[in-house]
Amino acid sequence: MSQIYIAPSILSADFTNLGSDIEMLNNSEADFIHCDVMDGVFVPNISFGIPVIEHVSKMASKPLDVHLMIVNPDQYIESFQKAGASYLTVHYEACTHLHRTIGRIKNAGMKASVCLNPHTPVHLLEDIIQDLDMVLLMSVNPGFGGQSFIENTYEKVRKLRQLIDQKNPSCLIEIDGGVNYQTGAKLVDAGANVLVAGSFVFGSEKPADTIQKLKLV
Ligand code: DX5
Ligand code: ZN
Repeated sequence: MSQIYIAPSILSADFTNLGSDIEMLNNSEADFIHCDVMDGVFVPNISFGIPVIEHVSKMASKPLDVHLMIVNPDQYIESFQKAGASYLTVHYEACTHLHRTIGRIKNAGMKASVCLNPHTPVHLLEDIIQDLDMVLLMSVNPGFGGQSFIENTYEKVRKLRQLIDQKNPSCLIEIDGGVNYQTGAKLVDAGANVLVAGSFVFGSEKPADTIQKLKLV
């Protein structure tokens, strides 16, 4: 069985006590800290941006997995690197010159990842997969935490697992949206490596225990 990584999303953290939530994640079995950046244009919500990530990064002892739900991500690549991002995810739907964008992310010294919205087919990654460190599949429509899981995602994970096994076996498959013990277990069976979880972790009584259990699904 391959290693499963957990990436709690701080979108569901308590923003008035963000420091203590980061501390909790530092002391948990979380592997990454997932940071959701929303611009109110690419998605119908606005979350937080570079200054918040800079502060989170000063406190965090885990790598920051930054998910950009923004138009024109190229404009901010270096700024996110300076702010402390380790993985930088851009949306396929937001990048006209995706190959160039991926090259820039890697040149800036970060791991490069592409996210697909629920309606975007996996086969569109055929000619870029060899250049990626991770693919993020949205299992809800991006913009909000706490939405319910879209069942078709399992089929997409299986298709992506095939493509990755053929062309770039070290590329990670991350899933974002509606992850809990049940959906998490089925996603891992289908071939996912990284589970993002927001409301399920931060809405639970003992978030660190929830992270530990999610890892064992
Ligand atoms: C949604 C974000 C997610 C969100 C997941 O657009 O990309 O990372 O925090 O939240 P849950 O786990 O509550 O579905
Ligand atoms: Zn996300």
